[in-house]
Amino acid sequence: MFAISNLSKHFGGVQAVDHINLTAKQGETVVLMGPSGCGKSTTIRMINRLIEPDEGSIFFDSIDVTTLNVTELLAMRKRIGFVFQHFNLIARLSAIENVMLGLVMGNVPREVAYEKAKIALIKVGLEKELQKKPNVLSGGQQQRVAIARALVLEPELILWDEPTASLDPMLVREVLLIMEELAKYRASTMLVVTHELSFALNVADKIILMDKGKIVETGATQDIFLNPTSNVGQNYKALIEYQMNASKLVLVK
Ligand SMILES: Nc1ncnc2c1ncn2[C@@H]1O[C@H](COP(=O)(O)OP(=O)(O)OP(=O)(O)O)[C@@H](O)[C@H]1O
Ligand SMILES: [Mg+2]
Repeated sequence: MFAISNLSKHFGGVQAVDHINLTAKQGETVVLMGPSGCGKSTTIRMINRLIEPDEGSIFFDSIDVTTLNVTELLAMRKRIGFVFQHFNLIARLSAIENVMLGLVMGNVPREVAYEKAKIALIKVGLEKELQKKPNVLSGGQQQRVAIARALVLEPELILWDEPTASLDPMLVREVLLIMEELAKYRASTMLVVTHELSFALNVADKIILMDKGKIVETGATQDIFLNPTSNVGQNYKALIEYQMNASKLVLVK
């Protein structure tokens, strides 16, 4: 069980996140959506305190992350995976070395780390790319290495901040498919910031819509997109209808 209570953050005069509450059950996939600047990244980054909250609590297995000291926080971060928009791979290391790094730094013996990293890379379909450096991998492959790097630590919670946003549209699908598989498997709770409506529609157990730092709507996918009550929800509904009509036109031709 994961829960955020009354969480807030301001930057100067901007209230980036304004007293929000949310919960996720073990294994659930929760999708966080909303217009640019509404506070999605700030929210997700406060969960492992890459950004320090001004106020509020973040409960992870009844432990309040905001009360942890540095050592405790580092231990907690091992239980929370993070996949960013930019992959942040280390250029001089091969795919498998990038994935092993977190384990090796946590004093896991190299041979054990190698085998675990190999399994994680196989899971994301990169069994042939183990020894390749990031610069010879496509954007989609690099992001899949970044996903393997998160998975190898067997996180109980995975935070995703627009993991497909820097990818060529043709490569987006391969990353979304991996995410869908992980969601189905339900080994980790997933909190996903994404603009990918198809992922939200197909995979989310719950959708949370934000606007101007506040949560404006929360609910099951169908309810949110079929009968939205917020302006943001209505905009997404209109966007879905537009995309459905556009694809019908193509299919008819
Ligand atoms: N480090 C910072 N310093 C000052 N203002 C910030 C900082 N980080 C975020 N903000 C502001 O806080 C608000 C929320 O930003 P945030 O990055 O959380 O939005 P977002 O929903 O992730 O947007 P996007 O969809 O564009 O990624 C914005 O007004 C942003 O300009
Ligand atoms: Mg963001």
